[in-house]
Amino acid sequence: MKRVFFNRFYYSLFVLLFLFSCKKPDHSVYSINKHEDVEHAGVVTAHPEATKIGLEILKNGGNAADAAIAVQFALAVCYPRAGNIGGGGFLLYRDSMGEVTSLDFREKAPGQSTRDMYLDNSGNPIDEKSKLGALACGVPGTVDGMYTLFLRYSRLKDWSKLVLPAVLLAENGCKLTASEAEILNKYQHNFRRFNKHSIPFLKENWRTGDILKQPDLARTLRLIMENGRNGFYKGPTAEKMINAMQKHNGLISADDLDSYSSVWRNPVSTEYRGYRVFSMGPPSSGGIALIQLLELTEKFDFTDVVFQKCEHITQNVLSERIVFGLREQYLGDPDYYHVPILSLTDSAILNTYQYHPTKFTDHHTMVEKEETTHYSIVDEFGNSVSVTTTLNGNFGSYFIPEGTGFIMNNEMDDFSVKSGHPNMFGVIGHEANRIEPGKRMLSSMTPTIITKDEKLFAVLGTPGGSTIITSVFQIIQNLIDFKMEPFEAVAAGRFHYQGKPDTVFYEERVLTTHMIDQLQAIRYHAKQRSPIGRVELICISPEGIIRLAADPRGDDDAKGY
Ligand code: DON
Repeated sequence: MKRVFFNRFYYSLFVLLFLFSCKKPDHSVYSINKHEDVEHAGVVTAHPEATKIGLEILKNGGNAADAAIAVQFALAVCYPRAGNIGGGGFLLYRDSMGEVTSLDFREKAPGQSTRDMYLDNSGNPIDEKSKLGALACGVPGTVDGMYTLFLRYSRLKDWSKLVLPAVLLAENGCKLTASEAEILNKYQHNFRRFNKHSIPFLKENWRTGDILKQPDLARTLRLIMENGRNGFYKGPTAEKMINAMQKHNGLISADDLDSYSSVWRNPVSTEYRGYRVFSMGPPSSGGIALIQLLELTEKFDFTDVVFQKCEHITQNVLSERIVFGLREQYLGDPDYYHVPILSLTDSAILNTYQYHPTKFTDHHTMVEKEETTHYSIVDEFGNSVSVTTTLNGNFGSYFIPEGTGFIMNNEMDDFSVKSGHPNMFGVIGHEANRIEPGKRMLSSMTPTIITKDEKLFAVLGTPGGSTIITSVFQIIQNLIDFKMEPFEAVAAGRFHYQGKPDTVFYEERVLTTHMIDQLQAIRYHAKQRSPIGRVELICISPEGIIRLAADPRGDDDAKGY
């Protein structure tokens, strides 16, 4: 009891300290809500414009699917670093009867892709090729994904109503927050380098409060509004994409676009301390990795463990070492490679793996500024949706097909471009994730839904490349093992380990010097890094209160009614 009290005191203090060290959200341009308890429905996204649009749809009779579609298109306008129509993603949907399904709208390799397309004559990866420009783009899945979600679950049954807010936002413009202005300024060079035509992102110096109008994007969104998926995969938008691909040595063809289709898949799931956790299966590694982490740590009793003291960190790290090792070997697109899901998630088998405290001798690194975005929505009819969507890196490939106004993804880098060669998040792969025409590249995205006694308990997810997996895992521990309140769970500092590199990365204030010494004593390096992830969480209390929590690390916004 004393220990529980100490733990609560300790992490409340810790959360406060962490909040002081976070960049402050931009209240000067938008009213931003970090947490709120509501009665009927709520939306948590990375941007206040998107939250507002999603909320309007919910208030006007839309359900979680309707709001998700409106949010996705809005984010493509107001959050172009990751919100997208030129990318892809994954979602979990739980309907009012409690059935959970998952939709895979991940990008695919173009039909003309080849296994060695990013290698030079000596077989070495030409680094930028899979990351920047037209050749780095996978066939986008987002618009098909949203249309597929609409056909199956929409309550409003009016597609144009869901896309119109984004059209208007692109036409009338949206105000830049400080962080949006900063990031646009930072990447001017890449926008110039990959676009010789005029694009709205180019400007000498963006400032907070400036208005970004995107007329080409508004026209493309209008075509999507009027013609559904065909407004993107056929007709003028498709023609512009194909022309641009041909002009800039990209591979995406008319057939690739026309034949793209998203896939309903069974989510993966496990029981963790009396809660049922559902998440995304392959071609994301996220769900399987999350389940493995939960299964490996469930036998460990955290009751007397102090939050983020050495015992907690080492237990996680030891499990993460196993999980990222298995990811590397066995995970890929299940339509192309047999992923042994049952054995990979069998806790008896998992627990036979030995923990290896040996040091890796590789020279892997990780980039620290990863961008994707997640949104969580609960409606008043009992449906919920958890969506993670991305262009991969910040602004994806930077390549905007002339006249379309949208940024194309650089998702091809998520393939193993060469066996054992790390992608931009430092994770590696081999055969299971090699490039093949039409195949989906392996992902770490982990949209998650948790129930307790068959009632909704939580909806969550985050961006962060490979740190997505460990962030979602920590939020679940924070909620279930450390009994934190939803916002405390999101605001608490995070750490990350993926085996290669053999380093525990931690946010400011997570590790003390003493803990770093202890970790080094058991042969782990520890390194402080920039903020990890941006979690959007909705919890439902046993009394049915909807508790919204938006990550304090950005302009993320939680609103409901
Ligand atoms: O699918 C993946 O795992 C990556 N393309 C996700 C990229 C990402 O999360 C970047 N940032 N936050």
